Amino acid sequence: MAKVEVKDAKGKLGVLIVGVGGAVSSTFIAGTLAVRKGKGLPIGSVTQLATIRLGKRNENRFPKIKDVVPLAGLDDMVFGGWDIFEENIYAAAVQAEVLKKEDLDAVKEELEAIRPMPAVFDRDFVKRLNGTYMKQGGSRRDLAEQLREDIRSFKALNGCERIVVMWAASTEIFIAPGAEHSSLAAFEKALDDDSREAISPSMCYAYAALSEGAPFIMGAPNLCVDIPAMWELAEKTRTPICGKDYKTGQTLIKTVLAPMLKTRMLGLEGWFSTNILGNRDGEVLDDPDSFKTKEVSKLSVIDTILQPEVYPELYGNIYHKVRINYYPPRKDNKEGWDNIDLIGWLNYPMQLKVDFLCRDSILAAPLCLDLVLFADLALRCGFYGIQSWLSFYFKSPMHSPDRVPEHDLFIQHTILKNTLRTIIGEPTLDYLE
Ligand SMILES: NC(=O)c1ccc[n+]([C@@H]2O[C@H](COP(=O)([O-])OP(=O)(O)OC[C@H]3O[C@@H](n4cnc5c(N)ncnc54)[C@H](O)[C@@H]3O)[C@@H](O)[C@H]2O)c1
Repeated sequence: MAKVEVKDAKGKLGVLIVGVGGAVSSTFIAGTLAVRKGKGLPIGSVTQLATIRLGKRNENRFPKIKDVVPLAGLDDMVFGGWDIFEENIYAAAVQAEVLKKEDLDAVKEELEAIRPMPAVFDRDFVKRLNGTYMKQGGSRRDLAEQLREDIRSFKALNGCERIVVMWAASTEIFIAPGAEHSSLAAFEKALDDDSREAISPSMCYAYAALSEGAPFIMGAPNLCVDIPAMWELAEKTRTPICGKDYKTGQTLIKTVLAPMLKTRMLGLEGWFSTNILGNRDGEVLDDPDSFKTKEVSKLSVIDTILQPEVYPELYGNIYHKVRINYYPPRKDNKEGWDNIDLIGWLNYPMQLKVDFLCRDSILAAPLCLDLVLFADLALRCGFYGIQSWLSFYFKSPMHSPDRVPEHDLFIQHTILKNTLRTIIGEPTLDYLE
């Protein structure tokens, strides 16, 4: 296998986060800064902790990924971003109530120094939020150009070699792909015409990032970068894109349990998933239009894994329901229940119950770190367009229109590691030897 030419990870890596004052972003930033100071462990991060087997099983080579794959170092990361609230990231993290104050205080100075830039926001796309810190602009085109300028000046001001832009802002309302999204020319015309219904704020950020050659990661289920216009722009500017919707809790479990049922040829009658969640994300998702975007993302998983069209006798008639209930007392500590009605030998019914008492942002933060480092790696490898090898991290993995997405966590994991092996010039594994 020919080795991929990878540019050095030299210099600073600017990490610009949309929604930088949110629970996920502030937990990611504070955690990375703490790890950097030796004040915490990056638990949950594949780039920081996982090993990779190289060669045959009898060779016994299991180096850490970060020791053999040329990733940017944590010390080289510089954080910034945009939010609709002006507070610095220390204040935002205190308000998010995810990390304890003593953990935040260990990196207080660094967090206070990170101040959001004013956001591009439109309440028609996130109905439950009222922003106070927004760009004043005319058209969508004008706002996108202001974001491009932000990226350029952040890069210059901080002496960054490269920039990655990541969306960790609120989930926008559901929009279906339309004519304005069908090509780059149509999209740019819609930008110029200020087509506010077709062009969401998140699309302005993605357009700005790709135009500046910065990889764009979509951590929410927004349509945003998953449209032909953006695929075309990513190709034109040779920039990696990936998404959508971090796979952190309930869907992570789903993409482990559903393949288990299928590999054992056990049937499924119904899967009821419900959650209680009390953070701002939960409040935003309480709006049916934002929830619809999330619902589509969460529902797609089971059908793709179980292939009811191939196994009608096992999966031809599944009742799948997903609910998110806003329940303030729990804050970021989401509780997700799954009730799975499965079927065994001669159609005998069984039940499986899962009750996951998790912490949303604690699960999401390591994914953010991995995605930023891998998106930057992809850029330096000369990879561009949809990075389906990063499907491991997403509920609704982006994929080219002629392919089905891969949802099974362990197949995604194999694809991820085999891509890393290819990048470093090692043979991919088929696990036979
Ligand atoms: N935590 C998880 O497990 C998880 C998993 C999958 C997806 N997500 C998604 O990640 C996103 C962030 O989650 P969170 O819990 O941090 O939510 P949050 O509400 O705490 O943070 C979102 C931040 O985005 C800001 N914002 C909203 N619109 C903006 C815009 N147009 N420009 C700039 N900033 C904007 C908000 O002010 C807020 O600070 C949500 O979309 C959520 O659905 C989270």
